[in-house]
Amino acid sequence: MKLAFIGGGNMARALLGGLLREGAAPGDLSVGEPLPAAREALQRDFAVRVTGDNAAAVAGAVAVVLAVKPQEMAAVLKALRPSLATPLPLLVSIAAGVRTRDIAAWCEGASVVRAMPNRPALVGAGATALYASGDVDAAGRSLAEQILRAAGRTVWVREEAELDIVTALSGSGPAYFLLLAEELANGAIALGLEPATARLLAAQTLYGTGMLAQSDPDLAAQRAAVTSKGGTTAAALASFAAQDFAGLVHRALKAAADRSAELGRN
Ligand SMILES: NC(=O)c1ccc[n+]([C@@H]2O[C@H](COP(=O)([O-])OP(=O)(O)OC[C@H]3O[C@@H](n4cnc5c(N)ncnc54)[C@H](OP(=O)(O)O)[C@@H]3O)[C@@H](O)[C@H]2O)c1
Repeated sequence: MKLAFIGGGNMARALLGGLLREGAAPGDLSVGEPLPAAREALQRDFAVRVTGDNAAAVAGAVAVVLAVKPQEMAAVLKALRPSLATPLPLLVSIAAGVRTRDIAAWCEGASVVRAMPNRPALVGAGATALYASGDVDAAGRSLAEQILRAAGRTVWVREEAELDIVTALSGSGPAYFLLLAEELANGAIALGLEPATARLLAAQTLYGTGMLAQSDPDLAAQRAAVTSKGGTTAAALASFAAQDFAGLVHRALKAAADRSAELGRN
């Protein structure tokens, strides 16, 4: 089963690496990528078929993963449409904010799945939400899910508008956790800890907590497990609550979701 990628950047590399780890044959994966240095790196790192000609990349593919920047999508698809064989391959777009109806308009007749992965996909620990337009059949959904699952966990949403919330939550989410870790380290430095020690402990705490959260998604229970009554954690959590931490986070999330919707409209 042949898969093609248009765009051979960071996200494409994350997915290619995952698919190969799961046993895909390099000869079944092809990439259309304009930059010679990027093509060389793809060839060297993955031994997949690489070309600067997108039409050649999609030949014989059952699905095409669109992994270019959102602003490049219209031009890429309009140029690609005449080269697509019938029946058209499934299009799986990972471009942030680009709507399925626009993709289907730029590539007439195509069935489209939109996926919103996140940066931890680069280490195989991505969180991806998927949305399928109405004309995608069960086989198409399963294929798209299989591709994205190569870079982490996947979940389906029923409405395309939910992807704006997903973008705010898991898409931008790594930055929120990193900001918290960064400020925890800064706070510890201000209290007198060596900077390198503070940063190492903050980063490792983020990593380990992520592993715990993944093994049991009951986040409140996980938090309760480290919070004894009258203890140190309880003192910090009370300070957070007194300053409306929940409200602060909810407002930030809404700002990101609103911005995602706005970018999609443009
Ligand atoms: N990185 C993330 O955390 C993340 C998360 C969620 C979604 N996404 C989405 O994933 C997509 C890819 O992101 P990325 O981080 O992988 O970006 P990236 O590293 O910049 O990759 C995009 C690749 O597409 C290539 N390209 C440009 N024009 C092309 C064309 N006409 N035909 C074929 N390839 C072309 C670029 O080549 P040049 O370098 O020569 O321009 C580049 O190698 C974006 O749409 C982004 O919104 C990314």
